[in-house]
Amino acid sequence: MANEGTTNVIFRVRRYDPDRDAAPYYQDFTVPVPPGMVVLEGLWYIKEHMDATLSWRVSCRMGVCGSCGMLINGSPTLACNTQIHDVARDGLLMVAPLPNFDIIRDLVPDLGPLFDRHSHLMPFIVREDHDEMQEPSDQYWQSADDLLEYLQFTYCIKCGCCMAACPTFATDPTYSGPQPLAQAYRYMIDSRDGAFEERKAILAGEAGPWRCHYAGECSAVCPKGVDPARAIQLMKRELVLDYLRLGKLRRRKPAGVLPPEKKRGRREGIPEHPPFTVEGAG
Ligand code: FES
Repeated sequence: MANEGTTNVIFRVRRYDPDRDAAPYYQDFTVPVPPGMVVLEGLWYIKEHMDATLSWRVSCRMGVCGSCGMLINGSPTLACNTQIHDVARDGLLMVAPLPNFDIIRDLVPDLGPLFDRHSHLMPFIVREDHDEMQEPSDQYWQSADDLLEYLQFTYCIKCGCCMAACPTFATDPTYSGPQPLAQAYRYMIDSRDGAFEERKAILAGEAGPWRCHYAGECSAVCPKGVDPARAIQLMKRELVLDYLRLGKLRRRKPAGVLPPEKKRGRREGIPEHPPFTVEGAG
């Protein structure tokens, strides 16, 4: 017997199998949706009861891994934390793969360009004390204020939703895009990092932050509350200050290991994880 409040919702799903189809097309599936059912569960229902060939990417099922990004009623978001009744309109739910990427099959985008750009912009801490990094004697010192400079950007799960929403990436495939740039800023501003000059050289090109028109769509759709548009504007500020020889990053000495006399207990002032930006999620 169906749960109370169950209603039928038509999933209009974009299908494409490059081995079989000349072009993508839409296929309708009627799914009984009880209250609380998420889009991912609706896709599982279709796969188990109607068409076992329907393909998408999934792993954690809890908004952590970034695998299940897709276009749901026109908005890039995560299928695993989007409730169907929150987004279906007049009993209809449009489901398509993330735009701005090639499609491998059905709802599976090729996120290779995202990860290539991400790795190109050095998303890691660079230091010269390799022995300390290999065999740490203690933690590198970082104040709570230093941490807050980049903390929110660490919540990125690389789902690709920001890239799918970006109008610049949509029209200029050479643009680095909001996800890689936000992560480059996250490491650029980290007080433990010593690679400002190397990153600056990479970012100076036409594919860097100057291509951003500040549409802000990346921040509007991020399912983790990250604000890539802000990161890119702050990155521009740092680069301008550096050009004017007023920036601090060029002269910054990467934070060292915390001296014993400065060790403290748990740091104060570090906020909790920000709320999800998707209404009703979390
Ligand atoms: S399945 Fe991991 S974020 Fe959705």
